[in-house]
Amino acid sequence: MQKDQVKIFDTTLRDGEQVPGCKLDTKNKLIIAEKLDELGVDVIEAGFPISSPGDFKSVVEISKIVKKSSVCGLTRAVKKDIDVAVNSLKYAKYPRIHTGIGTSETHIKYKFNSNKEKIIERAVDAVTYAKKFINDIEFYAEDAGRTDNDFLALVCEKVIKAGATVLNIPDTTGYCLPSEYGEKIKYLMENVNSIEKVTISCHCHNDLGLATANSISGVINGARQIECTINGIGERAGNTSLEEVVMILRQHPYLNLDTNINSKYLYPISQLVSESMGMIVQPNKAIVGANAFAHSSGIHQDGVIKKRETYEIIDPKDVGVDKSSIILTARSGRAAIAYRAKNIGYEITKLELDKVYDEFLKLADQKKEITDEDLSLIIKKI
Ligand code: KIV
Ligand code: ZN
Repeated sequence: MQKDQVKIFDTTLRDGEQVPGCKLDTKNKLIIAEKLDELGVDVIEAGFPISSPGDFKSVVEISKIVKKSSVCGLTRAVKKDIDVAVNSLKYAKYPRIHTGIGTSETHIKYKFNSNKEKIIERAVDAVTYAKKFINDIEFYAEDAGRTDNDFLALVCEKVIKAGATVLNIPDTTGYCLPSEYGEKIKYLMENVNSIEKVTISCHCHNDLGLATANSISGVINGARQIECTINGIGERAGNTSLEEVVMILRQHPYLNLDTNINSKYLYPISQLVSESMGMIVQPNKAIVGANAFAHSSGIHQDGVIKKRETYEIIDPKDVGVDKSSIILTARSGRAAIAYRAKNIGYEITKLELDKVYDEFLKLADQKKEITDEDLSLIIKKI
């Protein structure tokens, strides 16, 4: 059965770059954009062009080099923002404008000191104006996660009429539960006229650690684009992690959803983004963390050595990691020692292994991790 494609909208260079202290210069942004294009993302959100001359320049330069992905610039629902974004995208092969406005009661009342009618008017005006210059217009209803579904549906209907091609439903504050976010998407699928003409996009933040779960719930309920960042970086607790959603869809084929991502590039690009931004990837991070394919307890090591699938659901090579690793600690067993000894060139008998194991445990209780050099010294001593 043919799988439905879920588009990957990467916002590492816009929402991701909003991490305090992780600003990138144009040169680094270009390197990352080239790799994102190679990775197979459908859209690269290259920046917020009106925000600074540097961001404008980055969007211009990225537009020149990206070959396959659409290049997108963010705007508020403000004509000047749109003019600047249109200008910054003039070299893009496939340009997209991402415009929008807050739709929740909190945003309408406190951010805009406005009312629902005026918000709809601004949303429609922004889309209509942007559409004069560029065909591909994505509209975001900021704080959609906390927006009443009826009003959200009305806004969506109006902006579709005005020419929006993609509707972004952001859980801006990372508030929703997966069931709630999924129901929101389902509600829009069932209650917005002409919804079949556009793509619904999930843009979830990770304030409660639910960004990935919410995005998956969104696509299960009909959304066909996920907005995400490499390593899940972004404002506050971050955005949906690109590598996680891609691998979840790949590991669950019965969902009949897939992306265009070449997963072998996931680990290299994770390293690149981490190094360029000076932001370490937490070791236990799914898919790309240093420990994602490392085994340290005896029971797990014994299983993985016999058959990798006993404790791994992903082949590390599929995400660009060379191989699983067997870490020697005081929790390791004989199987792991024999395996690592063989890797460094020692075939040891069962009797020798018992002796090596005793010596190993003495040292392992003092050290956190036993290196190949430590093991080699123990074997030579025995
Ligand atoms: O989180 C959010 O709502 C955003 C919008 C600007 C799309 O990043
Ligand atoms: Zn965001």
